[in-house]
Amino acid sequence: MRRPRHILAAFAAMLVWAACATASAAPAAGAIAARAKFHYRERLLLPKGQRVEMRPIMPSDLPGLQRLFDRMSAYDREMRYLGPTKQLPKAEFVRNDRARGEMAFVVTPAGKRDTILGVVRSWTLPDKARAEYALMVDSTMHRQGLGRVLTQKMIDYARHRGLRQLVGIVHSENDGMKALARKMGFEVSPPAGGIHEILLRLR
Ligand SMILES: CC(C)(COP(=O)(O)OP(=O)(O)OC[C@H]1O[C@@H](n2cnc3c(N)ncnc32)[C@H](O)[C@@H]1OP(=O)(O)O)[C@@H](O)C(=O)NCCC(=O)NCCS
Repeated sequence: MRRPRHILAAFAAMLVWAACATASAAPAAGAIAARAKFHYRERLLLPKGQRVEMRPIMPSDLPGLQRLFDRMSAYDREMRYLGPTKQLPKAEFVRNDRARGEMAFVVTPAGKRDTILGVVRSWTLPDKARAEYALMVDSTMHRQGLGRVLTQKMIDYARHRGLRQLVGIVHSENDGMKALARKMGFEVSPPAGGIHEILLRLR
């Protein structure tokens, strides 16, 4: 007996979501197929139940990135950019450039590609052995696991690129970022000049 197509499609979609039951789970065959189909889009289920998607950044993300920046609290912007910042810095790239060592991933709600909930970016340092990384999560979405999945994504990517260390600079008041970094295995330096350096040895 042939089942109607939409029922099969719904069943297949359920399998893909089930395969990604935790953000850290290894991708199953269904997830890999979904990634290939949607240009490396990964589907994730956050610990509190929200379905999101993570993918490399694209030039068309610029308006979404601007809206994310506009939604961020002044405090969160200051934590991200290490000082009061009223405009999205022009240096924020939206095109991944492997040759220049620039890579960024965004997270959006499932099925809403234009709403960026978080972005993680890294750039290779001149020694070519280390990359610096920074991330930003929508101020209304903190403590839902996005910082962790974005950081893990960048760790995996940096390892894949054969880098030795992932490093970052964290505002000395940024207790959330320090806690996240420690949780992900980074060493956090003592404060100096209002910042901490964080460092993860990748190999
Ligand atoms: C720092 C930041 C990225 C964390 O993102 P997040 O999505 O809230 O982090 P997660 O929900 O993945 O948190 C993972 C763990 O980190 C720790 N953590 C995160 N935020 C914390 C906070 N404010 N206080 C204490 N611990 C915190 C916790 O251990 C947390 O696990 P738990 O919620 O199960 O206890 C986010 O607060 C942010 O975007 N801040 C503004 C920009 C910024 O500071 N960027 C960093 C520049 S390098």
